[in-house]
Amino acid sequence: MAIFAASMENLIRLALPHLSQSALDALWRSAKSLHPAIRAVLLARRAKRRDLSDGQEAIPVRVVNDVDEEPHPTVAYTKCCVCDAAMAARIADAVAAVACAAPYADGRLKASAPHPIVECGDAGCACFVVGRGVRAPLEVFKTSRRGWGLRCRRALGRGEFVCEYAGELLSSAEAARRQRRAVPNYIFVVREHSRAGTWRTIIDPTHTGNVGRFANHSCDPNLAVHLVRVASLVPRIALFASRDVPASEELTISYGDSGAGGGAAPGARTPCECGAAECGGWLPCDLSA
Ligand SMILES: C[S@@+](CC[C@H](N)C(=O)[O-])C[C@H]1O[C@@H](n2cnc3c(N)ncnc32)[C@H](O)[C@@H]1O
Ligand SMILES: [Zn+2]
Ligand SMILES: [Zn+2]
Repeated sequence: MAIFAASMENLIRLALPHLSQSALDALWRSAKSLHPAIRAVLLARRAKRRDLSDGQEAIPVRVVNDVDEEPHPTVAYTKCCVCDAAMAARIADAVAAVACAAPYADGRLKASAPHPIVECGDAGCACFVVGRGVRAPLEVFKTSRRGWGLRCRRALGRGEFVCEYAGELLSSAEAARRQRRAVPNYIFVVREHSRAGTWRTIIDPTHTGNVGRFANHSCDPNLAVHLVRVASLVPRIALFASRDVPASEELTISYGDSGAGGGAAPGARTPCECGAAECGGWLPCDLSA
């Protein structure tokens, strides 16, 4: 048995660099009944950082689990939001050439940035920040009490763009339908108010999404959420550092107002584990998409 395990171990070691993530996941599932030596090789390989974006982001998005043996999360990765054909047609009607109004200084969001934030989409323009995509070495990591979370391997400066919160773009009706069943809930709603009414941008990265879907809630977040239009009237949900953030500090956003149980019925409230001194106690819950 020892010889068999040793040769299997060598075989697996040789095969590992050539296996896809899904093959590795399958092997890991069956490895639970295998010899501890083989298990150890697989565990070491799984602990190694892999690229959650499968090459889509300019900088690989690592996944790290130093807490337990939960397998890496899987998500159909998309850099930008996706929508169904009917919504795409409505959006195509709305798209227009837009002019930028210098929202950034040295690539960072100005404290006095004009709203709405608009990028003209020209890669040579100083406004090309969200349109350029993720430039920070982001990492998805396992937290002790909040599932997976997001952090950056280097320090971030105030106003620096981190990533989008991207996923499926939903209508209000579809969001309401999905929200009734979603635990954990990834659906994010941003509202813009004008004299013409309220415009909702609703993103669901549950199945198809980007690295932003791992941003946990904090009652004292270090990221700010802004709607940014990149050569389109349809906004993107963009996350910027709201203060200087040291390397490896968890990157968090506010999901909304967490007072009074965050808007959920008493039985459906989720305790907030953000750990902030001024924690509201409950995870904000917005069912009014
Ligand atoms: C957008 S996801 C964030 C990523 C998630 N932690 C994961 O593992 O995929 C939102 C979910 O994360 C969990 N979560 C986020 N912030 C939390 C917090 N402050 N306290 C407890 N759970 C939190 C809740 O389950 C919530 O529904
Ligand atoms: Zn511009
Ligand atoms: Zn909290």
